[in-house]
Amino acid sequence: MSTRGDHVAIPTAPGFDSSLPFLADGYRFLSRTADALGTDAFRTRIALRPIVVVRGVEAARFFYEGGRFDRARALPPTVVHLLQDRGSVQTLEGESHERRKTGFVDLLVGSSEERLARLAFEEFSERLRGLRGSGPIAMHDELPRILTAVALRWAGVPEHRRDDEQRADELWQMVRQAGSFGAGTWRALLLRRRSERWARELIADVRDGREAAVEGTPLAAVARWTGDDDQPLPAAVAAVELLNLLRPIVAVAHFVEFALLALHLEPAYKAAFHDGEFTDIDGFVHEVRRRTPFFPAVAGRATGDLDWHGDGIDRDSWVMLDIYGTNHDPSAWPRPQSFDPKRYERGEGDARNIVAQGAGDPVADHRCPGEPATEALIGTAIRAFSHMRWSAVGPQPPKVRYRSLPAEVVGGLQVRVF
Ligand code: HEM
Repeated sequence: MSTRGDHVAIPTAPGFDSSLPFLADGYRFLSRTADALGTDAFRTRIALRPIVVVRGVEAARFFYEGGRFDRARALPPTVVHLLQDRGSVQTLEGESHERRKTGFVDLLVGSSEERLARLAFEEFSERLRGLRGSGPIAMHDELPRILTAVALRWAGVPEHRRDDEQRADELWQMVRQAGSFGAGTWRALLLRRRSERWARELIADVRDGREAAVEGTPLAAVARWTGDDDQPLPAAVAAVELLNLLRPIVAVAHFVEFALLALHLEPAYKAAFHDGEFTDIDGFVHEVRRRTPFFPAVAGRATGDLDWHGDGIDRDSWVMLDIYGTNHDPSAWPRPQSFDPKRYERGEGDARNIVAQGAGDPVADHRCPGEPATEALIGTAIRAFSHMRWSAVGPQPPKVRYRSLPAEVVGGLQVRVF
């Protein structure tokens, strides 16, 4: 049974609060609860806060389109600091949001995205050649380093302001620790402060002419971005936005690791790509983004009184979109657990409905502006690896631990390059 199209009350999940089961199995708990209730929307409490959980393609549009939800206090403060931080585009709404967001889209879509893919191919190819014949390499160490070099070069950070090892550690820890609470999170927050200081000084120096930023690079653009008052953004905010370009490029390492895992588990694709047959590569990349457990859900607060199939959601209520459940919803993805790159050409799934990076319009809504860049980076990494001979070593088959946030390959994916 489903509430789609029906006029029924949103049911309530059993139990007073769902925080513990959600923390214990963040990816699958929400859909399991929805399945058990026979619904695409249910009420529960997370961290004692009443919340409506929704899933499915229609729910994603409801959540993202039309400014129905803002992100104020939508995430625990530690996560906000690690992922977006105060004054960033994600915290803005309406015209202020659209103005800032246009800047991101201009930088990330079109020729800049092509430059990103070209630099990524150079970096991946060079690093992989250098790793030939060495012992097993832990992908969760190596991929963030490669992508940090890509991000810093693409952004136009001058060579003498780059400290790739340090930045790689800082940027990757922000991604790895955003889903946990504890000593690691505090270390990541300290590292984040270091990154912010570095970015703030860089922006200030570019503005004062003490540092030259090459025209057309993201660094030059962000240093010039203005706010609603037409004045340059405060250096701290511009620094946060520069990090909002760098950190997610490094985060793509998570998708690349799962792309390599998928190649390892699908040897026919690995062989075809190695032979230079890239006909299915788009479908392969879509499946990596659909199947990889990354952000399990995203939350927002209703900006007005809303209606979901005849039941009310009051202004200021919390709503959470189940990202993982939506990407595995059988009504949008037949045999959702099967990794099937050819499903798109058969019409068994529409890549525009993958919500790993949000939904709606990339300028007007909070949809990720980095979606095309992410696809380009995953595809480029696959091409670079396909030019080499490589194999995944260690316990077989590699297993995925869904209990970590983000999920991880147990022991990390270890790869040998020949
Ligand atoms: C690693 C892969 C990525 C994932 C899983 C991801 C995921 C997401 C998600 C789910 C959102 C929506 C958050 C919300 O609804 O509040 C988002 C927004 C955003 N993403 Fe990404 N993203 C990725 C890559 C990128 C890249 C490569 C960039 C830029 C270089 C980027 C920049 C942003 C920015 C600036 C926003 C805020 C947009 C807004 O609030 O309007 N992301 N991302």
